[in-house]
Amino acid sequence: MRNLNQDNITQAVIARLAATPDPRLKDIMTALVQHLHAFAREVKLTEAEWFKGIEFLTATGHMCTETRQEFILLSDVLGLSMLTVAMNNDKPAGCTEATVFGPFYVAGAPHYENGDDVANGASGKPCRVSGSVRGLNGEPVANATVEVWQADDEGHYDVQKPELGHAQARGVLHSRADGSFDFRTIVAEAYPIPTDGPVGALLTATKRHPWRPAHLHFMIQAEGYETLITHVFRDGDPYLDSDAVFGVRQSLIADWASQPDGGTQLNYDFVLNPVAA
Ligand code: BEZ
Ligand code: FE
Repeated sequence: MRNLNQDNITQAVIARLAATPDPRLKDIMTALVQHLHAFAREVKLTEAEWFKGIEFLTATGHMCTETRQEFILLSDVLGLSMLTVAMNNDKPAGCTEATVFGPFYVAGAPHYENGDDVANGASGKPCRVSGSVRGLNGEPVANATVEVWQADDEGHYDVQKPELGHAQARGVLHSRADGSFDFRTIVAEAYPIPTDGPVGALLTATKRHPWRPAHLHFMIQAEGYETLITHVFRDGDPYLDSDAVFGVRQSLIADWASQPDGGTQLNYDFVLNPVAA
C-alpha cells in the first residue's frame, strides 16, 4: 500500500496484523493501534509533541534498574494499574478487596514465626499487627502464606537503600491452625512515591502531589483460594482521598489504635475467595 494518508493509515496498519497467529495478541494490537491513532487525532498531536513523548518514554526506560521500575510507576500514576486490578478482582461480597501491587515487593523475603519482629531494625514507632485469614464461608485458613512489606518512617523501602544489604520491614509468616497470625513491626506512615525520575516530572507538570496514604502491603496465598494482593490503610491519613496511585478502598481502611503502653495495634481479618471448582 502506498500514499497512505490520515484517513486510511489506521486501517492499513490493522490489516497488517491480519496474520497474527495468537488471537488474543491480534485483538490487543488491533485495539492498541485504533486507540493510539484516535488519541493522536483527538489531540491533533504535533511532531514536536510526538518527539517529546518519545523522549519521555526513553527516559522512563533509562530510569529502570533491577530495583526501580519506572514503567510500573507510570502505569500507577495514570491509574492503569488500579484499573487492571479492579477489572480482574471482582470478588464476591465479603471477600477482602485487592489493590495495587506496587514496585517494592521482593520475592524471597525472610521467614518469621508468629510474634516475631519483621521490622528487623527499620526506623519507626513500634506497632503490633494481628489478624486472621478466613475463607468466604468463615472457615479458618490454616498455614496461609502471609507476606508483608512496608516503608520505614522516612518513607523508604529496604530495596531503595542498597547499602543496607538485608531485608527490613518485610517478611513471610504463616497463619496458625485457627487462621490467626500476628507480628511486630513499625507504624506505617504516608510517603511520596519516587519523584526523581520522569514520572516525578510528570506529576510536577500536572500539579499533582506524589503522596501515598500510610499502608501495610499484604500478599496472602493459600491452597484452594485466589491469591490476595492488597494493603491495609491507616484511618485518618490525610492522603486517603488523593492517593497518588488511586489504590484506596474504604474496606481496606483500619484503625491503628494507640495503646496505653505508647505502642500501636492494628487488627485486620482477611477473607479469601475460594478458587472456582
Ligand atoms: C507502594 O505502595 O509501594 C507503591 C505503589 C505504587 C507506586 C509506588 C509505590
Ligand atoms: Fe507501599
